[in-house]
Amino acid sequence: MSSNGTSFLEKVLSIVKDERSEEVPLIRFVHPKELEAKLDLDVTEGVNDKQLEERVNEILHYSVKTHKTTFRNQLFCAPDPYGLAGAWITEAFNTSQYTFEVAPAFTLIELKILDHVLKLFGIPNGDGIFAPGGSIAIMYGIVAARFKKFPEIKSKGMKSLPEMVIFTSEDSHYSITKAAHWLGFGTDQVRRIPVNSKGQMIIQKLDESIRNDLDMGRCPIFVNGMAGTTVLGSIDDIEAVADVCQKYGIWMHVDACWGGSLMMSPKYRTKLKGIERANSISWNPHKMMGAPFQCSMILIDEKGLLHKANSAAANYLFQQDKFYDVSYDTGDKSVQCGRKIDAFKLWVMWKARGDLGLGQLADRTMATAEFCLKTVANRPGFKLVSDELQCPNICFWYIPKFMRDKEQDKQWWECMHKVTPKIKELLVLSSRLMVSYTPLRLHKNFFRIAFQFHPAVDEPHIIDMLRAIEESGETITMCMLENTP
Ligand SMILES: Cc1ncc(COP(=O)(O)O)c(C=O)c1O
Repeated sequence: MSSNGTSFLEKVLSIVKDERSEEVPLIRFVHPKELEAKLDLDVTEGVNDKQLEERVNEILHYSVKTHKTTFRNQLFCAPDPYGLAGAWITEAFNTSQYTFEVAPAFTLIELKILDHVLKLFGIPNGDGIFAPGGSIAIMYGIVAARFKKFPEIKSKGMKSLPEMVIFTSEDSHYSITKAAHWLGFGTDQVRRIPVNSKGQMIIQKLDESIRNDLDMGRCPIFVNGMAGTTVLGSIDDIEAVADVCQKYGIWMHVDACWGGSLMMSPKYRTKLKGIERANSISWNPHKMMGAPFQCSMILIDEKGLLHKANSAAANYLFQQDKFYDVSYDTGDKSVQCGRKIDAFKLWVMWKARGDLGLGQLADRTMATAEFCLKTVANRPGFKLVSDELQCPNICFWYIPKFMRDKEQDKQWWECMHKVTPKIKELLVLSSRLMVSYTPLRLHKNFFRIAFQFHPAVDEPHIIDMLRAIEESGETITMCMLENTP
């Protein structure tokens, strides 16, 4: 049996340190059934601390080392060390963010950080709350928009309301579709507006689509503009989206889950110009900025609306006759009851680095991405999907040598569609690089490398990544050609 756990707890830092050391590979990939057979996962019998340490080491042995420069697979990244310290502290102090009573200083921290962020995004008189991820933050935006237009929704539900429609960019995140389902609109009520070659919503199409729904007697309730799409990192013309929303009187949301971190940089925040006209904004510091999972927020331009839309006034938690100022019990703004202290880790990072330090990290991230873009553009065998840097996403195909002088017809692209995942497979199996791939609209499978505030990625790292893709590309095509009858 295990001891009471305190001595095990003291070892945790060194266990984590060992498994995050320089020599440890990025990934030791093993297929699911095989991995299950290797790990002792059954919890029926207790083990002693020594055995527990061995089991934990085994688990970490097979875990992805997301803090490495070669982890380019996702939009999240290595945690900011200050943020990680903050996350560990809040885990240790295990409390909930709903009342001042159980989270006094953490409550003030959430309010302070939100106030600072609201000012940064240009809606100083707004309100906000931390949410468990961007998908939920977007749902908060939709719920607020619907409540603002039809406050009776809260008691009467949807039955007496007109048919409502949501508008979003074709390249936006799938969470909008999920929200339409969860919130009872139905996924057919989402209009996916076509984008241009840079992945930005075509404003004229947005206008036409809204007009069409109005003509059909439907009620446009929510327009989502993008500040950093998941794949291309595209930023919509936010001013133009705001003009359309203003013209028709529709709630404007900006999904800045990915690109919102550019607001940290005086140089790059101009890319998001117009965001201060939004009614709601979703932002995930757990993506580009490196706040540990999860750290996400919804910002709303109207104070009090979140509370009105979401409150249930539970007597056993939010008693109005408490002995302190109950306006500091912020939990009734939330759809959750118990809520993690997500603001503190962000506060620790921000307090340590200040606006200036975080701005410098944003600038460094964009400079790295710019170098990668230029290198990819000029390197034989690489072909960019889009040559404009909006967010730090670089999307490209690697064309193996045997395909280079062939006509890029349908068959050629079908081959490319298969080559990209094969290269990825070899990169993972050899632990050289984890990089994402995807098809997009008419584009066949291509790679996406994203850059974030952490870790620092230097020019030689980028050359190494591209070399790993080239070498894997040539190896797999040799195998493919050898196996072709
Ligand atoms: C642009 C964008 N918006 C929203 C989300 C959803 O965020 P979360 O994964 O925190 O739910 C993502 C996730 O990748 C995203 O890329």
